[in-house]
Amino acid sequence: RKKTTINTLQFLYKKQEPITMITAHDFPSAHVADAAGMDMILVGDSLAMVALGMEDTSEVVLEEMILHCRSVARATKGAFTVGDLPMGSYEISPEQAVDSAIRIIKEGRVQAVKLEGGVEMAPTVEHIVRAGIPVVGHVGLTPQRQNTLGGFRVQGKTTLGALKVLEDAMAVQEAGCFAVVLEAVPAEVASLITKKLRIPTIGIGAGNGCSGQVLVQVDMSGNFPPGRFLPKFVKQYGDVWSESLSAISNYKSEVKSRAYPAPEHTYPMPDQELHEFDS
Ligand code: KIV
Ligand code: NA
Repeated sequence: RKKTTINTLQFLYKKQEPITMITAHDFPSAHVADAAGMDMILVGDSLAMVALGMEDTSEVVLEEMILHCRSVARATKGAFTVGDLPMGSYEISPEQAVDSAIRIIKEGRVQAVKLEGGVEMAPTVEHIVRAGIPVVGHVGLTPQRQNTLGGFRVQGKTTLGALKVLEDAMAVQEAGCFAVVLEAVPAEVASLITKKLRIPTIGIGAGNGCSGQVLVQVDMSGNFPPGRFLPKFVKQYGDVWSESLSAISNYKSEVKSRAYPAPEHTYPMPDQELHEFDS
């Protein structure tokens, strides 16, 4: 498989073929996503919850993102890789943002960065793009700003709200983003924004009219114990947690009953040697 570049993504967008994106947070989760032929792999700051057990994304720091980006990059032969700039690593100044973006690229070995925010982040996007680093925008529901938004709520449900999401998407496009994530906005709004932009929109909870889709891998593959809350937009395509639980449970009972290891899992010793060793 040839490495996906920004030109490949541009080509998919031009021929209106949906761009596929999924998150990964370590070597195995990136390896399987790459093997499945994903166009893009995102090292999202959602790894704070799904890989590190943190309460929300605001807890994860740049150094942790870099470590996870590097393990994902090692496993990714084909997909285009994007790393999230975590909260606190880019808001203070465009200089801080460029510094953090350069570290994610140089140390994390991904191909692009993503950051949350619209109109207010446009100058920051410009600075990073000028440093030669491709940027993915992220507007609509921006989880790093959950305290300002009043929780995880659908954005752009009113005319005024929809206009704000459109303005944000436009602003990051004009600032030089090569793609933009639209999270949790009504399908009609996302479709309209997609038509108005000249860069691909990657939707999550944004309906079928976007230029591509992204999901959190742990959510879509069902790699979590039963009873976990899932947002409406998640479709669970697998049951990885149950598979894993059943494998480990079987291993446990076979060790307890001495069914494992069986002779075929065991290194034999030649009889003669054994006889001498045993005497
Ligand atoms: O962190 C993440 O996983 C994301 C996607 C949901 C877009 O930002
Ligand atoms: Na994120």
